[in-house]
Amino acid sequence: MASEKTFYLETFGCQMNAHDSEKVIGTLLQQGYRQVESEEDAGLILYNTCSVRDKAEQRVYNRLNDHKYAHRAGKRFGVLGCVAQQEGERIFERAPFVSLVSGSASYRKLPEMLARLEAGEKHITGLDDQQTDQTFETEFAARLSPYRGYITIIEGCDKFCSYCVVPYTRGKERSRSSSSVLDEARRIAELGFTEIQLLGQNVNSYRDPEGKCSFAELLTAVGELPGIRRVRFTTSHPRDFTRDIVEAIDRVPTLCDHVHLPVQSGSARVLEAMAREYTPEWYLEQIGWIKAARRHISLTTDIIVGFPGEGETDFYQTLDLLDKVQFDGVFAFKYSARPNTPALTMADSVPEEEKSRRLQVLLERQREIQRANYSKQIGEVLEVMVEGTNPARGQIAGRSSQNKPVNFTWPQPIAPAPGTYISVKITKAYPNSLVGEAV
Ligand code: SAH
Ligand code: SF4
Ligand code: F3S
Repeated sequence: MASEKTFYLETFGCQMNAHDSEKVIGTLLQQGYRQVESEEDAGLILYNTCSVRDKAEQRVYNRLNDHKYAHRAGKRFGVLGCVAQQEGERIFERAPFVSLVSGSASYRKLPEMLARLEAGEKHITGLDDQQTDQTFETEFAARLSPYRGYITIIEGCDKFCSYCVVPYTRGKERSRSSSSVLDEARRIAELGFTEIQLLGQNVNSYRDPEGKCSFAELLTAVGELPGIRRVRFTTSHPRDFTRDIVEAIDRVPTLCDHVHLPVQSGSARVLEAMAREYTPEWYLEQIGWIKAARRHISLTTDIIVGFPGEGETDFYQTLDLLDKVQFDGVFAFKYSARPNTPALTMADSVPEEEKSRRLQVLLERQREIQRANYSKQIGEVLEVMVEGTNPARGQIAGRSSQNKPVNFTWPQPIAPAPGTYISVKITKAYPNSLVGEAV
């Protein structure tokens, strides 16, 4: 037992990171490690990090600080993901007890890096900035959900929005071949997965290296695989959002009626400074296609408040855009200055208190929009995929195809298993969730 290899892994950041962690866990298990639930029980402690905002980045340093004496007891530490790629060897200066620093493009070398770690090497790095199709191989992915499978179809980002670290932490954009995507989708469908989420920082700028299909055609092909009941995709970029995506959703029932389309701002001036390369009008035209669809497609977005130079008028234009679109969900963030990005040098910074005020105003306005939107669904019967139970309320918890949380009562003593699909009649609505009863 003394030689047993154990690891603890904690994940921060987006779904791409969550799925990378599944691959890392799978690789470690394959290398004879056992996963444990706490830092205390682990010989190897790994953090898969995010650096999209300063707060996210600080979180990993806080975590390392909390456990900094543990290395004296022989525990080893590894920093993976976007902070690792961004900071590289600087992490060893700040936290000398860290032994492994690896970005996502180097995970295929993990077995070799682990062997060096076990041999006692102090500082190991994996900081490749190029990826090949190989890195997408998920032969060893330890899928955390038995019914929802993630598949990365495109990595990296070439958009270089002026505020964003992702192009620096995830490298150049590269798509995976459609046949490789379909093989994996088919494989996991055969294992009983019914929901597939296609992932990418800009999932819809997908270009099949084999030239066989467009993004909309890939969506359709995945949606038509036997056994698949739900297909989601995230995140879409307005620059690459084409009408055939809406047409595919309208045509293929397994494609979920939800589009997450981050707009960031409703001000043309701010969008230009952000280098988003579209105008509010362009964005609203796409929203128009989505709203004109036969199916009622739910819309969600991301907003940044307090970008350098954002004035009161710009902010009002963002509020105005929220009123026009009537999103079902908004992820709003205060602008955070990030290393290497062009926005770092922009003048006219918005004071922190003003950013907080704008965020509050925006979230309150959006809450009212959602209150109205969600309450329109009272009386509807929705198909809900069960995710678990809420024992406190005696309810079953799940999600609709639109990705809305639905809590519902269940007449029988034995709760339906996670991953099953139940028809639920909506009886009550909150701004962020629906309540109903199984029918
Ligand atoms: N590729 C996606 C999202 C990437 S990051 C897109 O372009 O839409 C997820 C979200 O984090 C972004 O949509 C943005 O709203 C937010 N974000 C990114 N960089 C940020 C920064 N420096 N400060 C605050 N929010 C940021
Ligand atoms: Fe970042 Fe822009 Fe790329 Fe999105 S599109 S990941 S916001 S640079
Ligand atoms: Fe964060 Fe990296 Fe994802 S910066 S949002 S973990 S791509």
